[in-house]
Amino acid sequence: MEKYLINPNQKISRINKDIYGHFSEHLGRCIYEGLFVGEDSDIPNVNGMRTDVVEALREMGIPVLRWPGGCFADEYHWKDGVGPKEQRKKILNTHWGRVVEDNSFGTHEYFELCRQLGCDTYINGNVGSGTVQEMNEWVEYMTFDGTSPMAEMRRQNGQDKPWIVRYFGVGNENWGCGGNMDPEYYGCLFKRYETYIRNYDWDNRIYRIACGPNAEDYHWTDRVMDKVKHKANGLSLHYYTDIWDSETRSKKSATEFTPLQYEQTLAQAYRIDDIVTRHIEVMNRHDRDKRVDLIVDEWGTWYEVEPGTNPGFLYQQNTMRDAMVAALTLNIFNKHSDRIRMANIAQTVNVLQAVVLTDGEKMLLTPTYHVFRMYKEHQNNTLLGSYITTPVQDVPCGKSPSDRPTAPLPQLIESASVDENGTIWATVVNTSYDKAAEVQCQVADTAVQTVKAQILTGDIAQYNTFDAPQTVQTADFADFSVTNDGFKAVLPPCSVVRFEIR
Ligand code: AHR
Repeated sequence: MEKYLINPNQKISRINKDIYGHFSEHLGRCIYEGLFVGEDSDIPNVNGMRTDVVEALREMGIPVLRWPGGCFADEYHWKDGVGPKEQRKKILNTHWGRVVEDNSFGTHEYFELCRQLGCDTYINGNVGSGTVQEMNEWVEYMTFDGTSPMAEMRRQNGQDKPWIVRYFGVGNENWGCGGNMDPEYYGCLFKRYETYIRNYDWDNRIYRIACGPNAEDYHWTDRVMDKVKHKANGLSLHYYTDIWDSETRSKKSATEFTPLQYEQTLAQAYRIDDIVTRHIEVMNRHDRDKRVDLIVDEWGTWYEVEPGTNPGFLYQQNTMRDAMVAALTLNIFNKHSDRIRMANIAQTVNVLQAVVLTDGEKMLLTPTYHVFRMYKEHQNNTLLGSYITTPVQDVPCGKSPSDRPTAPLPQLIESASVDENGTIWATVVNTSYDKAAEVQCQVADTAVQTVKAQILTGDIAQYNTFDAPQTVQTADFADFSVTNDGFKAVLPPCSVVRFEIR
């Protein structure tokens, strides 16, 4: 029997709702078809945005949406995407499939989408191939309420009032697709570009995000922090869970995998706990007051594309394995919510670890979607001190290029928070593919009255299809008994359970 302790007296940090954020790039069928079908489409839409997808994302509680990239951001010139649609420039999307980008989804459409979703905005600017002036004018176009050339242009294009830009990213992956820069060079550029991101309105102070490291590149964090620490509000980290076959130099299938590959995927996802901890240690050396937040603005699983689809579109199916990755990662982010302010899973619809997949007028919710919907109760709650005993397995890393023989994978990974009404929300993941876990939970100094629970479980490779869209879905969970100060439960293999404790 494993022991699970939750301490309501230990209130640690606020879990910013934006930890449950999403990312949508001009990539494959994410924006076009997935979110935006155009006003003339037969697919039901409001101002071009798919009604079914917008409703699903609202129901899931999407708090913030990052756009327009990704690598696309550093070749995006915003003026191509405003004004009459028939006059918008058609460009080549050089990163993603070399398809024509007709710019019918641009700045106005993005803010309209966020309005419909009821979410905050996160715009990623172009440093790699864009100018300081271009970035400066984009911010003026979006946020200035007075008389100026850009504000006038916005009005001519149909938007009188400025919008709220909550977050602004100064470049994306500038160590790679965003210009192949050295960290010192990028750090200097950040300061130069950031100077011209003006705050035109006291109520619209723009939160500036510097391009941070890829995965374990602590040197990048160190050098960039040295330059930007007093100017940036956040530093971004990208971390993908992608298992490579070093012999074939290819990624693995999203749907066909062995139990060992399942464990390897989860063990690789679990590494983000250590990676985040180490980046924060490096950041703290430069920023003792902890004023710069960590922003994990790209994360998720990355497999071989679905057979028969465009390799540049990054379309993949999504199984219970992905749900486990999402659930354990979000528990880790909750635990680091004293320093992680926002995280954005890649990428909302039809790309990588998407929460929604579409096929023409059909739509399905993936297992990952259900995790986000279960976990939305954590948004803006207070993280509580909690601890669970658990077996930890050393998973052989196989042919991954990480050079490690094994990686740890706890069987149980949890987090707990309290909402403003005093209800405690605990989310527990059982990562084992074949072992149930008996858990005894104690909530310190609390007479527990009622416990309700919801579960997502299934075989490790189960997924939803357009013909059977409800194969994997949440259900009420009853395999527990309430005790004076908590509960006893049996968590099935490959499951995530959310407990609501009053
Ligand atoms: O999410 C897909 C790509 O992954 C993004 O464009 C880029 O930032 C990252 O390498």
